[in-house]
Amino acid sequence: MSADAGRVGFPEGFLWGTATAAHQVEGGNWNSDWWAWEHDPSSNVAEPSGDAIDQYHRYREDIALLAELGFNAYRFSVEWARVEPEPGEYSAAALEHYRRVCQACHEHSIAPVVTLHHFTNPRWVHTDGGFEDPAIAERFAEYTRRTVGAIGDLVDYLCTFNEPNVFATAGYLAGAFPPAKRDATTRRLVNANIVEAHRRAVEIGRQAGLPVGLTLAMQDWQVAEGGEERRARILRNYEDVYLEAARDDDFIGVQTYSREFVGAEGTLPVPEGAEVTQMGYEFYPEALEATIRRAHQETGGTRVVVTENGIATDDDTRRVEYVRRALGGVSACLAEGIPVDGYFYWSSFDNFEWAEGYRPKFGLIGVDRESFERRPKPSAAWLGSIARANALGD
Ligand code: BGC
Repeated sequence: MSADAGRVGFPEGFLWGTATAAHQVEGGNWNSDWWAWEHDPSSNVAEPSGDAIDQYHRYREDIALLAELGFNAYRFSVEWARVEPEPGEYSAAALEHYRRVCQACHEHSIAPVVTLHHFTNPRWVHTDGGFEDPAIAERFAEYTRRTVGAIGDLVDYLCTFNEPNVFATAGYLAGAFPPAKRDATTRRLVNANIVEAHRRAVEIGRQAGLPVGLTLAMQDWQVAEGGEERRARILRNYEDVYLEAARDDDFIGVQTYSREFVGAEGTLPVPEGAEVTQMGYEFYPEALEATIRRAHQETGGTRVVVTENGIATDDDTRRVEYVRRALGGVSACLAEGIPVDGYFYWSSFDNFEWAEGYRPKFGLIGVDRESFERRPKPSAAWLGSIARANALGD
């Protein structure tokens, strides 16, 4: 549909937000497995995260800036490696820090949407059995109890795991994330343990009165000639295991960047002549509409929050075009009665893009790598004004 995203009647209370994750923005996250991985000569990481964008110290200014731009929600993550630096040793100071972050959000009428696990772990997790050990479910549950106990009264939505499908696949099948294993049986085991950890965290969050869910990496997988079976297999192993787990949750976080074609032998390269982003993905904002529908359908009707959607580009006009079309898809879903509670652009800031380092520019706000100065791009003002106009019911 050719929606003008500023006029399609998003519901009252719709969350207009942007998203980050602790390791990608905080800086100095040296006790995490990713920090160790960035400094491991055998890893594929382009550069270390270092100070990131120093949000650990600059969160107040960042939250104030997002509010000033017009947003009413902020998705960020709590860093487990800070909260539980050694097994069973909890840091009251780290928990107090995240409480202050939530308070800063409320001072600016920003709804905090908090993720408990966004790819990184304390280093001890891997030496202590890791995600292959079923004991991880209780360890994660205890971390969740402590975190919810410290900040639960200030949180609007609680996300347990960010993209557990990427975490399990990259870490245990593709060897691209720590602990860099390559074994399909191990990935299955890890998926099962995450599902159990997620279930326990859902219970804990709900006891505190919070809506709880997980966020999932979803692509619009499209069939190329002969690819039906292969596509079904990808969906089964990569997405369905978690869509199934999300059936009884309060929401499912949809995170979509593009589409991929699947042929008889597997995924195909981006079609010749297609526009590609700095990540090498096809520029295809329509993917979001397809994944929202699929998430809603395959969970049997769970509410949806678009917890990530965005584009890495140096051309900010393409960012505006991408989001405009993606929002058209969201509004089409809303018009059909699919409950979508919010849209979070990834990312608020240019930040540390995992193995790719600082090269890809996803941010609505640029950051000077020396001075840490924040420089909002035109897309930030544009999306913020849509947020503001819709919040006011214009
Ligand atoms: C992740 C983010 C990441 C983004 C862009 C998602 O896979 O949750 O941490 O930076 O996509 O690649």
